[in-house]
Formats: sequence, structure tokens, C-alpha cells
Amino acid sequence: MNETVEIKIGEESFKLPVIVGSYQEKGIDISKLRGMSGYVTLDTGFKNTGSTRSTITFIDGEKGILEHRGYRIEQLAENSSFLEIVYLLFHEKLPNTAELAEFEQAIKDHTGLPAQIRDVLNALPDDLHPMGMLSVMLNSLPGFMPESLDSWTDEAIRWKTIYTLLANMPVMAAYIYRRQKGLEYIDPDTSLGYVENFLNMTFGSADAKLVESLDTLLILHADHEQNCSASTARFVGSSHVNLFAAIGAANNALWGPLHGGANQKVLEMLEAIRQDGGDADKYIQKAKDKSDPFRLMGFGHRVYKNYDPRARVIKKYVDQVLDSLNLEDPVVDIAKGLEQAALNDEYFAQRKLFPNVDFYSGIIYRALGIPVNMFTVMFALGRLPGWIAQWKEMRENGEPIGRPRQIYTGETTRDYVELGQR
Ligand code: ACO
Repeated sequence: MNETVEIKIGEESFKLPVIVGSYQEKGIDISKLRGMSGYVTLDTGFKNTGSTRSTITFIDGEKGILEHRGYRIEQLAENSSFLEIVYLLFHEKLPNTAELAEFEQAIKDHTGLPAQIRDVLNALPDDLHPMGMLSVMLNSLPGFMPESLDSWTDEAIRWKTIYTLLANMPVMAAYIYRRQKGLEYIDPDTSLGYVENFLNMTFGSADAKLVESLDTLLILHADHEQNCSASTARFVGSSHVNLFAAIGAANNALWGPLHGGANQKVLEMLEAIRQDGGDADKYIQKAKDKSDPFRLMGFGHRVYKNYDPRARVIKKYVDQVLDSLNLEDPVVDIAKGLEQAALNDEYFAQRKLFPNVDFYSGIIYRALGIPVNMFTVMFALGRLPGWIAQWKEMRENGEPIGRPRQIYTGETTRDYVELGQR
């Protein structure tokens, strides 16, 4: 017998089905509620609302668990390459050797952008944030591939669009870096691996240790179920706009400081604390003070009420990367001190605020030589396959256009008053 719940509104009762997930998590299906009762539900910020059924990523925020297609993130980060994870997100299974080779080749075959994309980038204002530059380029791509305006119906076009995005996101990110620095653009070299090619286009060389560290960072960012940017990719994509535009929208969502933009804010915060004498406690007090808008960036998460498992993996890498580069970064000690102080503080404990993925990632990006305002672009590079997989699943499931309801609380009907009479 399928479980149902009954809700009573006035004298009437309504039975609603319960949807059970793979790990027995339960959701009340309210999709027929308005038709049955005239009522809608209200849940600003979707804190209690599932927007879809998905088979891509599972998170248990209370226990600090993250899995893609059933594989724990720790195991994937330890053993896989980024492109294996991309394959896993798209195809529901890890690739075998031949499948991976074919997948990697398809990405290489689609690598390279028309020269005009550089003109587009060159024409943008110097002060535009790199995430804005990336969005402009993403939205320009259909101009070079008009058939992508319908990115779904024809399977060959669908995959061409997907491969074009995957292959060229690193190209665009590297171009942005070189433009900011006033350096000549470096063409992609498809004899190199995915991450190696990115580092080479960015810095003109690619150290093997850095390739490995960056590959792991990209894995850790690959998908995170229905977060703000992934939901945006699904929501905007549900209008059947082309994939480039849906990904451009997701990219803009990621730009925000409460989402992907947090990694930039973390480093700026750590720098500010360092310049202010390195007193972690002073900033803990500021974060707790409700009259102060300051928040401890890189702390807290909508879903994790435990240590973010990605932060745990990244933290291990911080020392490894700095050691292998023979670098010392004074903000590392500040970050560790801040984390310790926050974890021992009642305010953070009560609210279950732990370090999230962004708390330590910026330190690694900085060690790799990536400028602070490019951090969110790096996040986008990692998250791209997740956005595509979420969009793909939404289209495969034939989900309807996203169109929430509201509770209107404004003025009720009133008569128009002529301009001169008001
Ligand atoms: N510093 C201080 N207090 C915090 C913080 C923080 N970083 N995060 C949450 N709180 C407090 C809130 O003030 C609130 O306190 P109250 O109950 O006394 O009012 C309580 O904890 C709950 O916080 P909410 O904002 O309601 O939690 P929500 O789930 O809406 O927000 C968010 C999650 C946006 C991530 C929040 O924790 C935050 O702003 N963190 C800093 C920004 C950040 O690191 N973002 C990256 C998120 S991860 C990612 O996108 C990849």
C-alpha cells in the first residue's frame, strides 16, 4: 500500500501521495492540491520544497554525505579524473576504458572557438567581473552555432552543444584570465589533457602536480543537486531556451556572493582579517552580532548541517598543494584559526554552521596563481557538467515549464485616477 497523508482544510479532508526516495526520504506530492482544494503552498526560498525527482546526486546534509549516482564524493575525488565524473553525471555509470577514451576524444574534437569570440571578449568593459565576461561569451555561442537554438530535439545537435560547452568553457576561462592580464591569447592544444590544456592556455605551462590538484577541485564542484544555479539551469531550460542560454543563466546565479561568489568573498575576508592584525575572535564576534551585516564567508550551508564533505577533502589538499609548490600563505593559519574558533563557539554550534566547500578552495586557487576575481569562474568550470546533467534530466523527464504560484498581498481592485487628480 502506497503511503498517503491526509490534510484537513475546514470540514474537508484531502489525501496526498507520499513519494519515497532511494534512502527513504519522504516528500508529500502536492501537485494536485490546488485543483482539489483551491489552496497552494508557500515556501519562500524552497527550504521545504522538492522541485524534482532526480537520480544524479544525493546529499544527506545532517550526516555530511555527498554521492553522485551512488558513489561517495571522497572515493570519486581519490580515484577518478574529472572527465570520468562528467561521464558519470551524463551517463549514469562510470565509463570503462574505451568509453572514457571516446568521451575524451569527443571533447577534444569540439575544442576551439571562432576568432570572433575573442572580439566579443575584447569589446567588454575592463571593469566587468570575469563572471559577467563568461556569461556574455556563453550567450554569444548560439550566434556561432545557430542550430543550437533547438538544443534538444535532434540528438546529434544536443551532443554537439554539450561537447562544445564542455570543451570550450576552459578556453573561455583562460581567455578571460589572459585578457585581464593584458597577455596574448594561447590557442588550445588538444594533445594535452583537459585540465593540462586549461592550465597551459592560462599560464603557458602546466605543472603535473597542479594538474592533479585542480582536477580534484573540479571533481569536488561537479554537481550539488538542486542548488541555486542548478535549479536555475533547470528552470530557465524548462522554457525550452537553448542550452547555452540556460547555462549562461546558471552562471549568473553562481556569480552571487551567497552562492559561488562566496569563494572570492572568503579570500577577501581572510586578507582583511590578516591586514587587521589577524584577530579571528574579533571577526567571530562581528559574525554573531545581528546589528552587523558581516557574515563569516565560507561558513554555513542551506543543506549541510554538518561538515561539508567537500571542505574536508579540500582542507587535506591545502597543505599538500602549498608544500608541493614550496609556498607559505599567511591566510592559511588565519583560516584554520577562524575555523577552530567558530567550531568551538556556541552561536555556530547551535545553528550547525560548518565550513563549506568555499572556505578552503580559494587558498588553493590562489596558490595555483589564479586571481581572486577569477575564483568563481573556476567554480563554474567545475560545476558546468552538473548544470548540463540537471538540464538534460529535466528535458528527458519532460518536465513542464517552471512557473510558481504566489500569495498576492497587494492592493485589491481600485479605480484608476487621472494623472492630474492624484
Ligand atoms: N555567519 C554568521 N551567521 C550565519 C552564517 C554565517 N556565515 N550563515 C548563517 N548564519 C546564521 C543566520 O544569521 C541565521 O541566524 P538566526 O537563526 O539567528 O537568524 C542562521 O545562521 C541560519 O542562517 P540562514 O541564512 O537562514 O541559512 P540559509 O540556509 O538561508 O543560508 C547560506 C545558507 C546562504 C549559505 C548562509 O549560511 C551564508 O550566507 N553563508 C555565508 C556565504 C557562503 O559561504 N555561501 C556559500 C554557500 S556554499 C555554495 O554555494 C557553494
